[in-house]
Amino acid sequence: MKIAVYPGSFDPITNGHLSILRRGLDIFERVIVAVAVNPEKSGLFSIPERLEMINEVIANLPGASVDTFDGLLVDYVESVNSNVILRGLRAMSDFEYEFQMALMNRRLKRRVQSVFLMTDYKWFYVSSTIIKEAAALGGDTNGLVPQVVARRLREKFGLPPKTK
Ligand code: PNS
Repeated sequence: MKIAVYPGSFDPITNGHLSILRRGLDIFERVIVAVAVNPEKSGLFSIPERLEMINEVIANLPGASVDTFDGLLVDYVESVNSNVILRGLRAMSDFEYEFQMALMNRRLKRRVQSVFLMTDYKWFYVSSTIIKEAAALGGDTNGLVPQVVARRLREKFGLPPKTK
């Protein structure tokens, strides 16, 4: 069984992430969404909140599961009997960071391969960071994140529930 690990902060998961996950499931039999636990980065949503939202979103995606990891990603990948790191690529600005990370991960564990999927043009500008910024200022994030996430963002920032 070919298993891929899709790691990230997922603070929160966006439709761009979901698209990469769905497409990953066309290639791999199992994709584990692996939420990185970084004690230095607290984030907007707690780890349990992120897991709850991801669990809801992947409920109808056979082959998808969610987990957390701390420490080195390559160690986690090996611990779940995988040798694939799945990542999405948006603009050129992602490239430098992703390239550096892929090379470091390769240096740490040569057996582990990084696989990149180009984001769908619809999600080219969507990132967790820009979503949080828009939501914090009262912007509507519907259509850019799963419904459960849009609702949680409104709750987080004390905005009224969606009317239509
Ligand atoms: O969604 P993000 O924040 O771009 O994800 C980054 C992530 C979690 C994939 C990256 O920070 C990571 O792999 N962290 C685990 C620690 C690690 O293995 N670092 C060394 C490899 S460069």
